[in-house]
Amino acid sequence: MDNLRQRLRLWGGALHHQVDTAFSALTLETAEGYRQFLQAHAAALFSLEDCLAQQGVSQLLDDWPARQRSNALRADLQALNCEPAPALTITPRGGPGWCWGALYVLEGSRLGGKLLARRLQAAQPGAPMHYLDHAADQGLWPGFLQRLESQAHGCDERELQQGVEDAFGLFIRAASASAEAKL
Ligand code: HEM
Repeated sequence: MDNLRQRLRLWGGALHHQVDTAFSALTLETAEGYRQFLQAHAAALFSLEDCLAQQGVSQLLDDWPARQRSNALRADLQALNCEPAPALTITPRGGPGWCWGALYVLEGSRLGGKLLARRLQAAQPGAPMHYLDHAADQGLWPGFLQRLESQAHGCDERELQQGVEDAFGLFIRAASASAEAKL
């Protein structure tokens, strides 16, 4: 399989299913559900963006500053008078390969975000959605895939896979912690 994206998708398929299931416990139909959704994303996204920044992600992705969504997520939380949930920890287990694997998951989460943004808008028109709507019309996903194929193809496969698993794992932990806190 030559295409790196196809391999990443294969490695992440089952984990994507898990993350989708874990987040489906948080409804976007109610204000409280949306707050919990944003808090859970914050617990994962703030840590992952910080971790990648510390790993020198801007050396890998030239348009990294335009991709960061922590501020958009903070703005939504603030608009809803909501504290972020405590940030979860993530430890990089590898070099550039790990970062590319984790970036694939982070950037891919925008795709589901589009769908969720439509769902939220239908259920709660007027809800703040800087995060779900972040740079929606800027073609960040195709731009990411081009960079991935041209820059990450020589990376260590185990590191790439580990990055995918760790990043998905972080979001799954965040969604599970949020669902448990609701019990
Ligand atoms: C309830 C939550 C979610 C739903 C409903 C959802 C839905 C989707 C959909 C429909 C796609 C395909 C979009 C397309 O091909 O145009 C997609 C792709 C993707 N999503 Fe999600 N998603 C969710 C959460 C997440 C989260 C939290 C992450 C990451 C932590 C994530 C990572 C990805 C990735 C990496 C892809 C790209 C797969 C590929 O290479 O084609 N998703 N998602």
